[in-house]
Amino acid sequence: MDNKALEALLNDMSLEEKVMQLVQIPGSEYEADAEITGVTRGQANEKVKQLAGSTLGVWGSKRIKKIQEKYMKEHPHHIPLMFMLDVIHGHKTVLPCPLGQGATFDPEAVKAGAAMQAREASADGIHATFSPMADLCRDARWGRIMESTGEDKYLNSCMAAAMVEGYQGDDLKDPDHIAACVKHFAAYGAAEGGRDYNNTELSEHTLREHYLRAYGEAVKKNPAMVMTSFNTINGIPATGNRFLMKKILREEFGFKGVLISDWAAVGEMINHGFAEDQKDAAYKAMMAGVDIDMTSGCYSGNLEELVKSGAVSEKMLDEAVLRVLNMKNDLGLFEDPFRGIDMEEGAKINEESRQLARKTAAQSLVLLENKGKALPLRKEKNAFIGPYANTKRLQSSWAFSGEDENTVTVFEAASSAYDEGSIKCAEGCTMMDQDAVTARGVCHVDNWQEENDRLLKEAVETAEWADTVVLCLGEDSTQSGEATSKASLKLPEVQLRLLDEIEKTGKRIVTLIFTGRPLELKEAVELSDALMVCWLPGTEGGNGVMDVLSGKVSPSGRLPVSFPYTVGQEPLHYDMYATGRPKPENGPSEYTSRYLDCENGALYPFGYGLSYTAFEYGEPKLSAERMSAGETLTASVTVRNTGKMKGDTTVQLYIRDVTGSRVRPVRELSGFRKISLEPGEEAEVRFDINEEMLRFWTAEEKWESEPGKFNLWLCDNSRDGRPMEFWLER
Ligand code: BGC
Repeated sequence: MDNKALEALLNDMSLEEKVMQLVQIPGSEYEADAEITGVTRGQANEKVKQLAGSTLGVWGSKRIKKIQEKYMKEHPHHIPLMFMLDVIHGHKTVLPCPLGQGATFDPEAVKAGAAMQAREASADGIHATFSPMADLCRDARWGRIMESTGEDKYLNSCMAAAMVEGYQGDDLKDPDHIAACVKHFAAYGAAEGGRDYNNTELSEHTLREHYLRAYGEAVKKNPAMVMTSFNTINGIPATGNRFLMKKILREEFGFKGVLISDWAAVGEMINHGFAEDQKDAAYKAMMAGVDIDMTSGCYSGNLEELVKSGAVSEKMLDEAVLRVLNMKNDLGLFEDPFRGIDMEEGAKINEESRQLARKTAAQSLVLLENKGKALPLRKEKNAFIGPYANTKRLQSSWAFSGEDENTVTVFEAASSAYDEGSIKCAEGCTMMDQDAVTARGVCHVDNWQEENDRLLKEAVETAEWADTVVLCLGEDSTQSGEATSKASLKLPEVQLRLLDEIEKTGKRIVTLIFTGRPLELKEAVELSDALMVCWLPGTEGGNGVMDVLSGKVSPSGRLPVSFPYTVGQEPLHYDMYATGRPKPENGPSEYTSRYLDCENGALYPFGYGLSYTAFEYGEPKLSAERMSAGETLTASVTVRNTGKMKGDTTVQLYIRDVTGSRVRPVRELSGFRKISLEPGEEAEVRFDINEEMLRFWTAEEKWESEPGKFNLWLCDNSRDGRPMEFWLER
């Protein structure tokens, strides 16, 4: 449809019809078993069901076809309904959770993964996904850290942008692609105390320099939608926040697409103490520029009246409706309301998507320790022990459209890789401590103690038989994701007891940690020979893990987030400020900025990860010591694979502005490159440095660079390497 026809359609619509384009209702209004991802209040009446412009949480070719057919028949202008879903790290084929994808440091792989998800979701009738989540996360207590790509604004920017490109492709009309939604705008990840939905207090400079960056970079890729966040920012709920939505998102970022609220967030402004009632909430959301009200009912119940009374102008309403109609048009829905649907089969996992998921899973694994070269596994007797050894629950709570039955467990993968007589498996213990609380309620196991005593006995016997124990531990997948904040980052007691008892057998221990958040790993480090973080690796998780354990692939994942010594360090991130009394690396540290009982930095820092092979970084070089705006410096380093195996390393570029009108972080990631080298092979890795990369939110409240001295590192994690110096001149 061309613009003229769209406008003619808009002009022909009744006020009620227009308002309803801005209303999104849960899929459960159409199909009882649709996924509900928030609290629902009351039911939509028949009229709302007939006219609501979009729905979420329902998928499947036949179901969507049926709903769309009925809807379009009843809609006065036969405008198609838009179907949205949280396709976060997979639809049918599930990739590693976003935090695991962050660990790949491979935006191309992440883009390919998003394209694969779009293809599958589209075949099941989905038009838009609520992804990527570009929230910066510095606090492991916040369960939604699992849905992010980590603590770094630059890495997050690359990943969020890659996801938008992957989901949307070059043309939204292409039925293999779907619309992306950048969320949660803004600063949802800065919730105080790491407690979900909690308030955030951020200075404008912290907000702009750190928290807004990844959303801004993702918006440059033209996502069809942006979603508001649940939190307040400096006292104003994001969903009613004109500064954020109008000034920053629309004016500064130039976002032209549809702004949708998060689930019920319009109505929640009443709980916040920002809106008096539903009508006031609808008014305040409209004034902030929120186009679609996701499920709160505030727009459906009040917007018509607000327009009739003149409180909301019809012009404002029309602009919002036109944005929604445009999105439907961009998706090609007016030409084909059943776009993408594969009526024969719906979405199905194919070999190609499995291969991609397997490769990405292997790439996401981060090897933290490998004492005495415990890995790769030797061809001897290997026992796979622990609650994650043979479970199909390797995907997160946000991969609800992926079926567990398709998942390959670690032990299943081991069974295809090794002879039957050389491997054994034992569950070892329950996944959780008795009565552990999850997002879905309390997990109670009858006869928990007896069951665990039995499992432990069996596990110890299995360990006695083995030469190496692969201990598969971690946090249950229902303990990260939405509404899963935790004040402790420890492994469950029952798993720590298993670790202790297995260690007493004296066998070599390779510990794998499955998790959606950084955990305290002190005990695992002390008692294991090798330690590897496996995140929630998805459908092909078992195969990806075994590809690395067996040595077929050398581990190459890097931590996208700091792993703390203790929860007391949170929020924790590498790009801190120095303070006036920095703690010296050596020498007396009294009266310096430090903890008496713990290091300042992480146990394992951002960017860290080992390989089976060894890489030697040569002397880094800078093409010049001075540059002015408009010029480019080149930083380069030669990296050589000095080990015996092919492997990947991620060369990381960090910069520090040594003096500024506002203090600058001790280091900031400004580039990275993953390279693959054969044994003995070397490669030169080069980064161009320009003035734009040195800009920040200055004391003058401008996004500018300032002349002066800079430090630069080319290294393989955020802690190591020697700084070089250069100067920016005016
Ligand atoms: C979450 C969003 C999600 C939405 C729709 C909300 O509870 O915060 O991330 O996209 O539900 O499912």
